[in-house]
Amino acid sequence: YHILLLGPPGAGKGTQAKRLCETYDLDHVSTGDALRANKDMETEYGTPRSFMEAGELVPDEVVNEVLEAALTDADGYVLDGYPRNLDQVEFLDDATELDYVFFLDVDRDVLVERLTGRRVDPETGDNYHVEFDMPDDEEIRERLVQRDDDEEDVVRDRLEVYEENTEPVIEHYRETGELVEIDGEGTPDDVFERLSDAVEGDD
Ligand code: AP5
Ligand code: ZN
Repeated sequence: YHILLLGPPGAGKGTQAKRLCETYDLDHVSTGDALRANKDMETEYGTPRSFMEAGELVPDEVVNEVLEAALTDADGYVLDGYPRNLDQVEFLDDATELDYVFFLDVDRDVLVERLTGRRVDPETGDNYHVEFDMPDDEEIRERLVQRDDDEEDVVRDRLEVYEENTEPVIEHYRETGELVEIDGEGTPDDVFERLSDAVEGDD
């Protein structure tokens, strides 16, 4: 499958992408993860870090290159974090074909709570949450860190950037008839069940 997972910051794209990839044997293509792994790469626009820590979009020229490299290596995939504006929609349209376009719908209050409480294991990249999902292993618990862009003021900026740049992307896929809206609230298991029903209900 070629699956696109859309949704605001904190909607659970990374969490659900991981499960979809394990269940259907797909590659997780996340432009956010790829950029975090290359934060200090020098580009003619500056480093990705300078944009990400401010909650802004990294310039299309940089992200498109990252995306192209990741898609070339992937066969079946779950794409998360791209496209974030209408120019990126066009680029993606030329690069690949999609089987599913899912939108994880979550209320703003819940997004803020999920993002400010997120903790990341720097060794594995796994996401946890101080309230909803902490690891049992004390060694892991002690090494968890907060993502640089999860401080409350940056979270608010990211949500604004989303509303301005990425909501038109959602609208675009609604107009083409491809958008499948999935309730993104409830437990990760609840959300995954809705997603896998939508994939399998189709076969
Ligand atoms: P990116 O990494 O893509 O961040 P994002 O879109 O803001 O999304 P998040 O990763 O914050 O949230 P998520 O939806 O994956 O939620 P998660 O599953 O982790 O992008 C980061 C930055 O990179 C951007 O700001 C930009 O600068 C740059 N960038 C990336 N792509 C770009 C592009 N295409 N163009 C330009 N710039 C780009 O869950 C969040 C938390 O909630 C976790 O703690 C998790 O444990 C918890 N949680 C998840 N599901 C549930 C649930 N059901 N119940 C309770 N808790 C839950
Ligand atoms: Zn993510």
